[in-house]
Amino acid sequence: MSKLEHLGGDLFVADGPPARDMGIHFPTRMALAKLSDGSVWISSPVLVPFDTLTSIRQMGPIHHLVSPTPRHYWRLKAWHVLFPEAELWSSPITPVTLKEEDLPLTGVLDGRVPGAWAADFDQELIGGSRLLREVAFFHRPSRTLLLEDVFQVHAPKPDRPLLNAALRLGGIAGPDGGVARDIRLSFRDRTATRESVDRILAWDFDKVVVAHGPVIREGARAVVEKAFGWLRP
Ligand SMILES: [Fe+2]
Repeated sequence: MSKLEHLGGDLFVADGPPARDMGIHFPTRMALAKLSDGSVWISSPVLVPFDTLTSIRQMGPIHHLVSPTPRHYWRLKAWHVLFPEAELWSSPITPVTLKEEDLPLTGVLDGRVPGAWAADFDQELIGGSRLLREVAFFHRPSRTLLLEDVFQVHAPKPDRPLLNAALRLGGIAGPDGGVARDIRLSFRDRTATRESVDRILAWDFDKVVVAHGPVIREGARAVVEKAFGWLRP
């Protein structure tokens, strides 16, 4: 597990322990931003070492814990125990939402930015899927796009040829990664998905943070365009 990594403009990431989902071990990552009002906003929180937690607490009061994608809802629970006064926000609940119990949500996210973080973020609820209803964020001060499960990059492992073949077939193998084929299939209304992706591509980002894969620090727009190229005729 790593320390906090600063991406500029009061945006940070921290890696967590691997999570096992659908038979694959996923690297995990959270993003956190110090908002203009001095509070801290955390997306897809992960377990971090105590000194990292201390650094986060020193940034400011933790006001918002956000799960922007159905498979990350469960991650809010441990941080809710640590910070019961923080507001909990989730993407829309779907049949694939991964949760152990219902949490006391302040709100369910859609395409409208809550006033609490409107000074720092734009957001888009990616349309077209009944299952993966994921919210993308654009952190304006650092010009960074935040995605979660919709776009993944899994580095091949030298001793795992079958896994590597599965990753390639699944469309998420490094170095380029992509939108997993099962996720692509879930986007039944591709016009709605394309319109969402177009709105995301209209944001002025040059970096991308994904939950499962390396931080993309340059050329991010071309990478995202390529990852969603299957939406184009
Ligand atoms: Fe995930």
